[in-house]
Amino acid sequence: MKNLLQIEKATKRFQAPEGGLITALDNVSLTITHNEFLTLLGPSGCGKTTLLRAISGFEDLDSGEIYIDGEAMGTRAAHRRPVNTVFQKYALFPHLNVSRNVAYSMEVAGLEKREVTERVGKILELVGLVGMGERKISQLSGGQQQRVALARSLVAQPKILLLDEPLSALDKNLRHKMQQELKSLQHELGISFVFVTHDQEEALVMSDRIAVLNDGLIQQLDKPEALYHRPKNEFVARFIGESNLFPGRVLSSTQAGLKIKLAGGDTIAVASSKCPAGTEVKVLIRPEKVTLAKGKASDGLKVSGHVLEHYFVGTDYQLVVAVEGLGRVKATVRNPANDAVQTDGSRITLFLPHEAMHVIPVSGMGS
Ligand SMILES: Nc1ncnc2c1ncn2[C@@H]1O[C@H](COP(=O)(O)OP(=O)(O)OP(=O)(O)O)[C@@H](O)[C@H]1O
Ligand SMILES: [Mg+2]
Repeated sequence: MKNLLQIEKATKRFQAPEGGLITALDNVSLTITHNEFLTLLGPSGCGKTTLLRAISGFEDLDSGEIYIDGEAMGTRAAHRRPVNTVFQKYALFPHLNVSRNVAYSMEVAGLEKREVTERVGKILELVGLVGMGERKISQLSGGQQQRVALARSLVAQPKILLLDEPLSALDKNLRHKMQQELKSLQHELGISFVFVTHDQEEALVMSDRIAVLNDGLIQQLDKPEALYHRPKNEFVARFIGESNLFPGRVLSSTQAGLKIKLAGGDTIAVASSKCPAGTEVKVLIRPEKVTLAKGKASDGLKVSGHVLEHYFVGTDYQLVVAVEGLGRVKATVRNPANDAVQTDGSRITLFLPHEAMHVIPVSGMGS
């Protein structure tokens, strides 16, 4: 399928007021297809907003190019690009009512009054604000203001909607509700969304694909499941989900897989054959894959240790266990019928199945 948005080697540096240069975008390339929900995920300052601003035309690149529907955007002005942005702060006009906020860009563009009214009506219906057109922005809840911001961006019928942390001001419940609404809105409209967040859970829930950014670099661009189960580097493994990462070295690499000696002395066998012998690696296992060992364990690592911390979270216990050689091991175990198992200081035995282990070469930064 033809790409809707193509970013080619985008680089942007800023002069830091305190001296030196900040590389906000470092040779970033990515593509988005029609009707795709793509999320830019990364810590504060990693370049998410800069990339959105470059797509929307509010920021010029130092080098690289942005194509929309095959057309190079060059230095084309923001209002002439087929995209629209919902900003990190909604930037609504407080002195205008809801309808006028939504109508503003069409009025500026000189659209006929009748058409403006009709489009505003339709879009307010779409975002669930029927009957609120006359309200002032200050008379709305956070979630309603968020909907006005959405409506205002959608009314121009963009090919791509750019959303910069649009849900960050909302409380948890409303945030979940809006996540679902945004997702179904995107399906309904059939347009592509580029969504920015630093909340990994939000990214996993909403996205078709996620680009994980750090220091202006794309660390990995993949489907949520692939990022979670097969992170390419330690940054991605740590940023998405909870993780146990054990250092080790590849002893042998064959068709059957890898033999790895962990720093603590244990040897494990993993069905992955990408690294040559001698490679320094980190072995990832997610806490929910670690179980309480029962009886004889094969095809995995059986280790004992003392419970350092335990948290009861209803369905599960989250444990932190001190294991000699491995260090702190996080385990999320199903709430056992006998809840006496998990008291701090008690000694327990854990099972880490080989099949749940994923190997990351230590030098494997970038995508
Ligand atoms: N106009 C500017 N002048 C100087 N530095 C800037 C400018 N805009 C952004 N930066 C820097 O570029 C880097 C990327 O900023 P950006 O706003 O893209 O981050 P972000 O990922 O959106 O962060 P956040 O999650 O906090 O919104 C940061 O180090 C920031 O300080
Ligand atoms: Mg930002």
